[in-house]
Amino acid sequence: MIIKKTARFYVIEAVPRLALRDVTGPAGLALLRRHGFLIVTSLGSEFERRLEALRLSMLEWFRQSSETKEDRVGGVYVSERGVPMFRVGYEAQARIRECFRIAVAKPLWPGESRAARDAIVLFRKLADRVLAAAVPRPRRAEEEEVDEDFSVAYAFYYPNTDAYGLDNNGTLVGPHADPSLVVVAPVADVPGLYVFDPATQSWLSVEIAARPRRELVLFSGKALETASRGAIPACVHKVLKTSKTPRLSFVFEQKYASFYSHLRHFGD
Ligand SMILES: [Fe+2]
Repeated sequence: MIIKKTARFYVIEAVPRLALRDVTGPAGLALLRRHGFLIVTSLGSEFERRLEALRLSMLEWFRQSSETKEDRVGGVYVSERGVPMFRVGYEAQARIRECFRIAVAKPLWPGESRAARDAIVLFRKLADRVLAAAVPRPRRAEEEEVDEDFSVAYAFYYPNTDAYGLDNNGTLVGPHADPSLVVVAPVADVPGLYVFDPATQSWLSVEIAARPRRELVLFSGKALETASRGAIPACVHKVLKTSKTPRLSFVFEQKYASFYSHLRHFGD
């Protein structure tokens, strides 16, 4: 529940939340237009089982020695703009977090477990359905087949142990919107992700507003804002250190080349 104080009243506004089956209907699109994000609930037992498998596999993977993790580095990911961005696989980002990046089209997986790929299948399917509903456009089947997939997924481990960010209200990742179309993230166990709600002009802690392991947050990126001609605002979000508890999170970011052709630096 969001409580917003106006000059005379407290306005109580429910957190935008919808069952998975309703997200791509008119109610889901209306919430995305108003808030730029929504909480997805009633995922079903199979979806919840895959979220739990993903959580356990991340926990196990990040617990390994630094040497083992540092061995797991792959090729360079070239973004939807044709810009070399980073190497896929493991990277320790000093004082902030550890990260494992997965380029969905050419994945390097964090471990032997199928948990990450199984979860990505579900996140991608959901993001694809939302995109088709939000930006209905006639695309021939062969066009969809050749549309290059620049989607990425990130597993993050925030140790939250040192004092980094505490002098800046605990800010680990400052407010920004992603370049993606649709972003899907399971609700983490530990608070840290905050989304800005333009409807209430306030920040919402995703993990306090939603149920870890049972719900997802789905939000829009800049490309969805552009593709929807501004109807769906890109969701501004940030990551804060709110306690000394380590925090695991996973984020799937949908990006298809055809939505970025105006940004590319070179021809295909
Ligand atoms: Fe982000």
